[in-house]
Amino acid sequence: METQTPDSDSSVPPPHVLIFPFPIQGHMNCMLYLSEMLVYSGFHITLLLTDHNLSLLRNNNNNSHPSSLPNIPRLRVLSISDCLPADHPRNLDGWVELLDSLKTNACPLYKSLLLDLCKKDDVGADGFPAVTCVIADGILPFMIDASEEVGVPAIAFRTASASSLWIYYCIPQLIQSGEVPFRDGADWDEPINSIPGMESFLRRRDLPSPCRLAKNSEDKVLQLLATSTAHSERTRGLILNTLETLESISLEQIRAHMPTTYAIGPLHEMVRAYRSQNNVCAHDKSVSLWHQDCTCMTWLDQQPHRSVIYVSYGSVAVMTRESLIEFWIALVNSGEHFLWVVRSDLLRGEEWTNIWDSLSLEVRKGTEERGCIVSWVPQVEVLAHPAVGCFLTHSGWNSTLESIVGGVPMLCWPFAVDQQINSRLVGEVWRIGLDMKDVCDKTTIEKMVRAAMNGETASEIRKNAHELAKMVKNSVVEGGSSFENFQRLIEHIKSLCKRNVE
Ligand code: UDX
Repeated sequence: METQTPDSDSSVPPPHVLIFPFPIQGHMNCMLYLSEMLVYSGFHITLLLTDHNLSLLRNNNNNSHPSSLPNIPRLRVLSISDCLPADHPRNLDGWVELLDSLKTNACPLYKSLLLDLCKKDDVGADGFPAVTCVIADGILPFMIDASEEVGVPAIAFRTASASSLWIYYCIPQLIQSGEVPFRDGADWDEPINSIPGMESFLRRRDLPSPCRLAKNSEDKVLQLLATSTAHSERTRGLILNTLETLESISLEQIRAHMPTTYAIGPLHEMVRAYRSQNNVCAHDKSVSLWHQDCTCMTWLDQQPHRSVIYVSYGSVAVMTRESLIEFWIALVNSGEHFLWVVRSDLLRGEEWTNIWDSLSLEVRKGTEERGCIVSWVPQVEVLAHPAVGCFLTHSGWNSTLESIVGGVPMLCWPFAVDQQINSRLVGEVWRIGLDMKDVCDKTTIEKMVRAAMNGETASEIRKNAHELAKMVKNSVVEGGSSFENFQRLIEHIKSLCKRNVE
């Protein structure tokens, strides 16, 4: 892919897209990758973050100049308040309040900022022309509506898997069929029949977590997911970080309702391929809300080939002390080497380091001999390291795609929302890992770690993972489906921008 000029007609200002991710790490990562690809296509980009996240980024990067975060030409970072107190937990415990606050309090701020940014004056002092298009996170439908009200066309970007979206879209059918909410005593291994295309593998326990948590059909989170997904039908387009062959069934179903759907993933690999073909330096191009501890890469360098199990629960999961201890003992008892990401806010209300003293001498010794525990890693690099043999993951969609591209088999322990269906795809459909959902005892975890690292099952999932990685990598280079879909998306955005300035 070559850097393109935006438009040969010099009277038409270059497209300037404002990108607004939901303010959590997983959403920011892939929308930044999209931003970077759009810059390489000649666009100007304003990446809109929250003040809270921008200040975390500044601290982590030791950088007091917001416009240089991340450092990509024609990309600037602006921020608005999420209108929550500084100490609000912006993790799984607090995401609904975050969403509510964005809707009620931040949306008017966003609207007035956008009004300023889209004034059709000359190019602004920083060289950025007026904003002519918005790509907003699809779970912020009110931001999409606000953009259109201001007169800027808006496209939705959903950062989760197409399969989870298809299930969210079918929530009304799940309710109508009586499969959701779950009846008391319902068998969670029973097949689900009201999601077209998924009848052969979907069980009750694989439905996104709000389906199991809902007490009644009016449940707030359930309805929120159903309505934000249905809202994408009314937007100028829908972008998904997935690819045709990986989720063909769900994409086909989604397109029957939302024909202007672009499957352009995995975006992190598209960016990597572009950078390597065009000798673009990757330095300073990421957004990380936690400080990356790169000492783990030196530790990995010292470990034998495929000997390490990499463990991470993503960016927003919170767990109990009891669960963490079960994992700890299991990892040590498995005898494997492990690289474990334990975020400073992973435990609810306490520092995980407090646990150390309550562990047996044997577990502490095993940790020192075979473990490396850090608070945050450069995950894509870790998954590309030859010492990594398996990824024990919470099955967030970014992590899933990153593991697939790395050819690393997964041991899945999903927490919430889309992770329940992602792990089913990994274990049952693509057969590139094992699904360990809904158990958390040390004996089972230890057994599963051993099975995922050594023996017949391990060889089989590793072989499948390698084959899938090849196929997925091909999709983002010239001739591949995501590459071609991305070109179509560029044309679509250009046509929206052109109409907007006419
Ligand atoms: C959750 C969902 O499960 C996900 O599917 C949804 O789209 C967003 O919300 P999260 O917990 O953030 O996401 O997981 P995931 O989607 O996997 O994203 C985590 C990101 O953080 C990944 O891009 C991963 O590379 C990065 N990460 C994680 C690091 O860079 N370092 C780490 O140590 C851990």
